[in-house]
Amino acid sequence: MRILFIGDIVGKPGRQVVRDKLSYLKKEYSLDFVVANGENSAGGFGITDKIYRELREMGIDVITSGNHIWDKKEVYQVIDQEDRLLRPLNYPPKAPGRGYGIYNVSGKGNIGVINLEGRVFMNPLDCPFRTFDGIIEKIRKVTPIIIIDFHAEATSEKRAFLHYADGRATAVLGTHTHVTTADQQVTEKGTAYISDVGMTGVQDSVIGVEAETIIARFVTGLPQRFEVAKGTPEIRAVFIEANPEGKAEDFQIIDM
Ligand SMILES: [Fe+2]
Ligand SMILES: [Fe+2]
Repeated sequence: MRILFIGDIVGKPGRQVVRDKLSYLKKEYSLDFVVANGENSAGGFGITDKIYRELREMGIDVITSGNHIWDKKEVYQVIDQEDRLLRPLNYPPKAPGRGYGIYNVSGKGNIGVINLEGRVFMNPLDCPFRTFDGIIEKIRKVTPIIIIDFHAEATSEKRAFLHYADGRATAVLGTHTHVTTADQQVTEKGTAYISDVGMTGVQDSVIGVEAETIIARFVTGLPQRFEVAKGTPEIRAVFIEANPEGKAEDFQIIDM
């Protein structure tokens, strides 16, 4: 199965570049399935019903998220109704929505997608490691092809999770820091890994936001209203080819 995972889509420029380039990428890589992190897709903060539908219509099969998923209040309803919009699985059980799904890809079998959030320098959620243990065998009974969006700040936690999940998932893909890391690898057990896929948006910015307002916050120490950066957007994504045993056979960074 040939899979594309797109890093955090930030605001309108991020959505625009996906609209412009995804059909080309689908052909070029003969893609079967596309996952994207959409936690910043609505003006940099959260996602709306309209934008969820817009991203799905562009050809994204499943949208994952992270700490920003709750920024737009209407998501509370949308996320309960749509099984292709995920929030981190390790939120407390009463949180709306779901944190994993198993999806059928016609002619290619099933793929599992799990969304988890780290706890280092982030919200004190349930343990992502033990949450993963609680679900992985259930998913593996259906399919060995499993993509994990591990939404976290610290590379230590992300790399520890790689070793924890090694051989039990097709890919452990870091999101949240919005900066593509250069540590991509496929382990001997066949798990593809990168600490951060990076973001899909205006790279010449401060993680997708206008530099001026971020600088003002650092210099003055006062809160500022953040605005999505203007400029030329890029897609940061990874391509994974999974064999029928769920091992990654090809893994490439895409910067477009
Ligand atoms: Fe993000
Ligand atoms: Fe995040």
